[in-house]
Amino acid sequence: MRQELVEPIAQLKRQRHAVILAHNYQVGEVQDIADYTGDSLGLSRQAASTDADVIVFCGVHFMAETAAILSPAKTVLLPDLHAGCPMADMLTAEQLRALKAQHPGAAVVCYVNSTAEVKAESDCCCTSANAVQVVQSFPADREILFVPDQYLGDHVMQMTGRRLILWPGYCPTHARILDTQIARLRQAYPGAVVLAHPECPRPVRAAADHVLSTGGMLRVVRESAAGEFIVATEIGMLHRLRKDNPGKVFHGVSDVAVCPNMKRIRLDNVLWSLQEMRHPIRVPEDIRVKALRAIERMLKIPGG
Ligand code: 13P
Ligand code: SF4
Repeated sequence: MRQELVEPIAQLKRQRHAVILAHNYQVGEVQDIADYTGDSLGLSRQAASTDADVIVFCGVHFMAETAAILSPAKTVLLPDLHAGCPMADMLTAEQLRALKAQHPGAAVVCYVNSTAEVKAESDCCCTSANAVQVVQSFPADREILFVPDQYLGDHVMQMTGRRLILWPGYCPTHARILDTQIARLRQAYPGAVVLAHPECPRPVRAAADHVLSTGGMLRVVRESAAGEFIVATEIGMLHRLRKDNPGKVFHGVSDVAVCPNMKRIRLDNVLWSLQEMRHPIRVPEDIRVKALRAIERMLKIPGG
């Protein structure tokens, strides 16, 4: 950790009455200075409940946007405006409106990895931690459009036995992980438990012992008697798993499972963000109010 940046960040944080929230895929040096590090659901809950004036969001744009939707009176800062999510950009509100027109009466469940405009067109949001419970909260005979992640949607179909209308979006980082890599690692480390994120394609999920959100992975590892794990998700997760479980061994499945957007945030721009109060993330009020309904409905559903 670049120590010379840590103290000024802490000082400014106190001065601004700020809190630093970081996703589990952030680089280690950022995770280590955060007040809270977690998965998308945990971060949303933190953003909704914090009494800080300023939230420095170390993650990607849709996460900061979700915090701004939940806490409009607070200043939400994203240290790099280019930290986006290609999956969220695979579905526009216009495309979703066209899909809804083809399926009148269908409910829309949208993964939080989506724009505020898409959330505003949706009935309920979900994260990878609660997608199954969110879908099950709708009557069994209700048609559901699940957007934008086809692989998470496919996972929910497998878990619930329900047929969902899927949008063909995907995470380019998780799509790089291959089932053949898992097979090789299983041979090299027999006895290791395999964890995969639901954003992975079906063959990768099928090769895993557990399919979980990043928060779910932390819970399972903590509670497991096993000492060795093979981890199929973005590589930032390994820092968190190793830090929380110093006695256990973790093997990342793929060196190329890197989300370049998550890596845009570093201590340098976290400090700059607090100094200059950049970049504030705001959502137009008409969109915010509609998107908030979908997020609040999700937060009321137990699970995850
Ligand atoms: P979770 O941490 O909620 O599992 O999300 C993974 C992800 O890809 C966030 O962009
Ligand atoms: Fe988007 Fe995938 Fe990066 Fe998550 S890991 S922010 S889903 S591109």
